[in-house]
Parts: sequence; C-alpha cells; structure tokens
Amino acid sequence: MEDVTRIAMDVLRTVAPYVEEARLKVNASCEQLEGWQIIAYTFGFTLILVSIYSYLFDHEKSLKQRATKSFFKFVKSLPIIRTKIAAEVQKNAKQIESGFQKGLGSLKYVHKLPSKGLTEDEVMKELDRYHSLVKVDWTKGNVSGAIYNGEEKLTNMLVKAYGKFTWTNPLHPDLFPDIRKMEAEVVRMCCSMFNGDENTCGTVTSGGTESILLACLAYRNRARENGIRKPEMIVPVTAHAAFDKGADFFGIKIIHIPMDPVTCKVNVKKMKSAITKNTCMLVGSAPQFPHGSIDDLESIAALGRRYNIPVHTDCCLGGFLVPFMEKAGFKVPKVDFRVPGITSISADTHKYGFAPKGSSVILYSDNEYRQYQFFVQPDWPGGIYASPTLAGSRAGAIVAACWAAMMYHGEQGYIESTKKIITTTRYIATELNKINGIHVIGEPEVSVVALASNEFNIFRLSDALTEKGFSLSPLQFPSSIHMCVTLVHTRPGGADYFINETKAAVAEIMKDPKAKCGGMGAIYGLSQSIPDRSMVSQIVGLFLEACYTTKDPEDSNTNGKINGKH
Ligand SMILES: *Cc1c(COP(=O)(O)O)cnc(C)c1O
Ligand SMILES: *[C@@H]1O[C@H](CO)[C@@H](O)[C@H](O)[C@H]1NC(C)=O
Ligand SMILES: *[C@@H]1O[C@H](CO)[C@@H](O)[C@H](O)[C@H]1NC(C)=O
Repeated sequence: MEDVTRIAMDVLRTVAPYVEEARLKVNASCEQLEGWQIIAYTFGFTLILVSIYSYLFDHEKSLKQRATKSFFKFVKSLPIIRTKIAAEVQKNAKQIESGFQKGLGSLKYVHKLPSKGLTEDEVMKELDRYHSLVKVDWTKGNVSGAIYNGEEKLTNMLVKAYGKFTWTNPLHPDLFPDIRKMEAEVVRMCCSMFNGDENTCGTVTSGGTESILLACLAYRNRARENGIRKPEMIVPVTAHAAFDKGADFFGIKIIHIPMDPVTCKVNVKKMKSAITKNTCMLVGSAPQFPHGSIDDLESIAALGRRYNIPVHTDCCLGGFLVPFMEKAGFKVPKVDFRVPGITSISADTHKYGFAPKGSSVILYSDNEYRQYQFFVQPDWPGGIYASPTLAGSRAGAIVAACWAAMMYHGEQGYIESTKKIITTTRYIATELNKINGIHVIGEPEVSVVALASNEFNIFRLSDALTEKGFSLSPLQFPSSIHMCVTLVHTRPGGADYFINETKAAVAEIMKDPKAKCGGMGAIYGLSQSIPDRSMVSQIVGLFLEACYTTKDPEDSNTNGKINGKH
C-alpha cells in the first residue's frame, strides 16, 4: 500500500510542472477571448467529441457491421458494378417467378372480383382445383415439420369448433364471454403444464413469432422504465429469427452468442461476458430450431438472478413435448417456472399442441412482466382503447379450436404423442448416424435431427431427397439440413421409409463425393459465402415479392375470369 502511494506521489511530482505549464498556456491563449467565445468554443468542442463517441460506440449495430455495410454500398454504387448487379437481380427475379408459375399448369390468376359471385358449388370446385396444385404428399411423412398432426378425426373436430365461433372476436369480451373464458383457460392450462404458481399468467397470441415479439416488447418497456435508454438483448446465435425481428421492430440492440460446436448449445460463459448495464433480457431455447439441442437454461437463469435480468425460455417448438417428456419416460433438463429466474416462456399450441395454425401462448412468471406488453390509449376519440397483444381484432374461432384441441388430447393424449415423437426421433437419429458419409450434429433430444457431412456438400443430400418428394430444411453456418419429426412420421413405416431413402441417396452421392452441387443447395452454399449480407437480403426480398406475383406465364389477360369457366 505504501509503495503504491509513493509511486503515485512520484508520478504527481513528475507531471505537475507540465500541468502547470499547460494551464498557463491555455490561459494565455484565452486572454484575447471574450467570455461568450470561451463558452461557445467549449460547447462546440464538446459537441464534436460526443458525436464522435456516439458514432463509434453508441449504436444498435457495431462499428464493424456499419463499416462493412458502407463499404459494400460504395462498391455497389460504382457504375459498372451497379449495372451488373441490376442485370443479375433481374435474372433472379425472373427465375423465381417462373418457378412459381411452372407449378400452376394451365391455371390462370384472378385479377378482379368476379362481377357476379359464384355459387357455393362453384366455389368448392375452384377450391379443389387450387388444392390440386399441392405436389408433396405430407400425409406420407415426406415433410420436415409444417404439419404436426393431420389426423382426419381431429381435423373434423377442429373444423366444427371453428365453425361454431366463426364470428367471434376476443377484442369484445363483453359480447363473447365464451371466448374470453376459453382464452383464459388456455393460458391457465399452459401455466400448469410449465409448473407455474398462482402468479403465473400470460396471453394467447397468433403464433410463436408474436409470443416472442411480445416478450421482447415487455422487457424493452420494463428496461425503459428502469432508466435504460439503449436496451440490449443477449440471445444464442441459434435462437429463432423472431428475436432479431423483435430487436429490429422495437429498437433493441441484439447480441448473438456462439454455440458450442459439438452440443450446439449456447456458450453460457460468453453469454455472461456480454452482459452490460443495458442488458434487458437473456434467452435460451428448449429446444432450438436448427439442431434440436436444449440450451442450459438453469445456468442462464442463474445469470438472470445474479444480475437481475429477465430470462425467456423459447419453448415454441417444444411447448407440447418438453412438459410431457418426464411422464413419457424420458429425461429432460428443467426449463420451466420451477427454475427460479425464468420469467417468461413461449409455447406454440399450433405445433405439437395440434391446434390449427394461428395460436401460441406467451407466459410470464408474474403479472409485473405481463403488464409491460399491454397497450392502452386512454385518449382516442374512438373510445378508451386497450389490447393485450399486437393485433386489434382477433379470431375467436382460432382460440376456440385451440381450446378444443387441448381438451381433446388431455394430458394423457399429449404424453402418448410425445412418447411416439421422441421415440421416432431418436430412432431416426441412431439409424442415420450409422450411414457412412453423414453424421448427426447437436443433441437430438426432442424432435429435430440435424445432419452434416465431412465427405460431401450436404445440400446435395437435400436436393436428392427433394427429388424423391421429401422437403427438408436447409441450415447454415455450418451447412447442414434437418428433419423435424411430427406425428405424421410416427405412422407405421414412416421413419423407415425416410431412413431407407436417405441411405440410398447417400450411397449414390458417395460414388462421387466431390461432385458439384446444383439446385437449391448451390444457392444456399453460395449465399453463405457472400460477405455482403445486404445482397442476400435483397435477393430474398425478390422471393417475397414473387410470392405475390399474379402475372400469367404468357401474360394473357384473364379479365377477372377464372380460367376454364366462362
Ligand atoms: C416455430 C418456432 C418459433 C416461432 O415460429 P412461428 O412460425 O411464428 O410459430 C420460435 N422458436 C422456435 C424454436 C420455433 O421452432
Ligand atoms: C412420400 O412418401 C411416400 C411413402 O411414404 C411415397 O410413396 C411418396 O412417393 C413420397 N413422395 C411424395 C411426393 O409424396
Ligand atoms: C427399409 O429397408 C429395410 C431393409 O432394406 C426393409 O426391410 C424395409 O421394408 C424398408 N422399409 C420401408 C418402409 O421401405
């Protein structure tokens, strides 16, 4: 201690003359200035310093991200490159559009309302013609995820439930006490599934994305109230893109934490070192979408407790599997409200809850958090306006169908489906891992099996399987593909059919493992190697635009007539 003091004194003694000299110099140079000038110069100088600081550090995007963006923006503005890119983009747009048109056969687009309405029979006939466009038969288990149940008996019941409540709207709880009760019960049943207590609460939403957006919104609003002006969220790089959407929508800085390359779980140590005084939420997934691994939520929750930061469990995918795994005879880590520190959970009723698309829940450990997602406008001339979620009017019929699906299956029903789905997933993972040339990545603990290869470009496998009528999801960073197992795959022979076809496809590829990859795979491979991500976004934007195309192949005008009907 004494040493430190002595050194400090020494330093002071050495610098003191310079400080004195500087003081005299500054005073001398200010001698000619008037008081107002000194104030103005100080003000201007401070302003410059603050702008430099905020340009460098005080921004939602990092300096590197912004520099890269500016660089590519500059390169792309060079005339030669600009025309080249424009031509390339045009070509891409045409290709995407013609891809959609190819599937239509002779069907033409409708451009205007039919001047006279169709009869019910005619409408039904048209609907059948549209339905005949579907090429992949998902009832055979050829599709990853997407259709989670598909049993005819359930479909019929859901349609009846929907039909009874077609005109209802939860925005008017006074008019529809039936729907209000059902919605409250859907939330309560989910709270119980995730071991919540009487303080646990939530809302029904339109899907997993909305559930996640609302959690981001609630925690941003909470952070604001606590005086955080530049909130940041810390999420695993494998967390669903809905978190990026939330960050973008609500002006939150998002920090992506890398995963462990073997388990594909988030690196909690790196998560810890990313925490700052501005952190408004931490996220873990159970399981995450790409590889199906479950993040270590107990450790993430411990961080949340230690630094007083809310923790969200994204159980969108696993919402109706994970809560039943123990009772179905599988070990599973704790990811729900039993873990102190977990403050919210999103769970999709429209996935393994087997409700029709358009419903999910967001749950909070305490009303203190839910309050922050509500919106109230007390001054609107249209009346005092309040809505619990993003939408205004909502489909009460969807709530009714969701309630019906949950009551229909009951705990026993979900335990049964969980048993089937997890057993099938693990069987598929074990069998695929035996195939020479490919390997399973991450930990397929729940319902997702992700595949990679050290021998060949893995997208060749998804292309080969696409040709056989399968539809798998491509993953990137690193390149891999995945199969999300649903009840459809648990039908007799479903898994074996997929395994056999994969075996055959891999054997074929292994005859020439270094061959080039064409098709969708080439696009995915290429896109990962483009350093300018804004370019990738631009091309994907064309895809979204093409989804809304109503240009007929030879661009013949249909004058609003439905083709084949005159
Ligand atoms: C499906 C899913 C979501 C939400 O997706 P929606 O399509 O909006 O329902 C979020 N997280 C994970 C892990 C998912 O699998
Ligand atoms: C889907 O799988 C079934 C077998 O389960 C198979 O007969 C069929 O050809 C596959 N392809 C399509 C496009 O449905
Ligand atoms: C898959 O292959 C095995 C062994 O070749 C065969 O016994 C089985 O019938 C096949 N299953 C399906 C569904 O094709």
